[in-house]
Amino acid sequence: MARILTGIQSTGTPHLGNILGAILPAIEMSKDAKNDSFLFIADLHSLTQIKSPQTLKENTYSVAASWLAFGLDPEKTVFYRQSDVPECSELAWYLNCFFPYQRLKLAHSFKDKSSRLEDVNAGLFVYPMLMAADILLYDANLVPVGKDQLQHLEMTRDVASRINHKFKNLFVVPEAIIREENMLIPGTDGEKMSKSKNNTIDVFQDEKTLKKIINKNIITDNIPLEAPKNPDDSNLFKLFSVVAEKDQAHQMAKNLRAGGYGWGHAKKELIELINAKFHSPREKFLHYMNNKNELDYILEIGAHKAKSVATKTLERVRNTIGY
Ligand code: TRP
Repeated sequence: MARILTGIQSTGTPHLGNILGAILPAIEMSKDAKNDSFLFIADLHSLTQIKSPQTLKENTYSVAASWLAFGLDPEKTVFYRQSDVPECSELAWYLNCFFPYQRLKLAHSFKDKSSRLEDVNAGLFVYPMLMAADILLYDANLVPVGKDQLQHLEMTRDVASRINHKFKNLFVVPEAIIREENMLIPGTDGEKMSKSKNNTIDVFQDEKTLKKIINKNIITDNIPLEAPKNPDDSNLFKLFSVVAEKDQAHQMAKNLRAGGYGWGHAKKELIELINAKFHSPREKFLHYMNNKNELDYILEIGAHKAKSVATKTLERVRNTIGY
């Protein structure tokens, strides 16, 4: 049995791209009975960027509500808030003291963020060691991450190996599983869907707002209604086909090629499809957002399970390094 662990950024309500590209595949993976899975909301990492207490709290809730709405089973997956297990911060400190400053200076993500963000705090700099603590605290074997996180995983392996070298196998050295972005989800402008590009579709919004966003923001050309259209050039069609079943997408492609079928028709179909497909998750999401005590309860149970592993690891670490 392998222990799979991963952290989710809590930077706001997940959009269609996050749902299709990350949430649904991860939930699929967590159903594998061979593995033991840990999934947490990285709200300590969020503090490097978010300084509003309300936003910090609210983002955690909306991320938790989304994962649960799409079927994450908290009985099978240990699902918790990072900040509910303060052992993580303690371990991060120890790791900081065993990792060379010069190596942290090489982190791409820090270089990138420090050139982009106004608030360049020390938390951003030691971010990789907090992430290493997330992983090493639970003796995780496998860590699914996007390509952008690969260097952080290298640093995790590096710090674990350095400490193991000094004190005989204190930590499990984890391996990364690269999450291939096999499904590129286009945003309303045809670029990759991303919050920073302002081209997202929020499927949890009410039907009226969703309709407005799709009608207003998705860019189409002005080929007349009667004329045949090429689905392969159309961002609207691409979006439809990543949400639709194969035969539905096939039918729309046929309609577009035949002519007499306009972008307005296609938009209407996309809206109906999203409403139908996400009806039940949307209801569940809203239910949780209106009953946050249920989220707190679920996350507390998760934190309790996580803590029972964390305290044991930390005891081992404290004893070994001299406390
Ligand atoms: N830094 C990760 C990201 O931006 C989130 C994360 C935090 C994480 N801690 C982790 C991922 C531990 C995997 C394991 O996506």
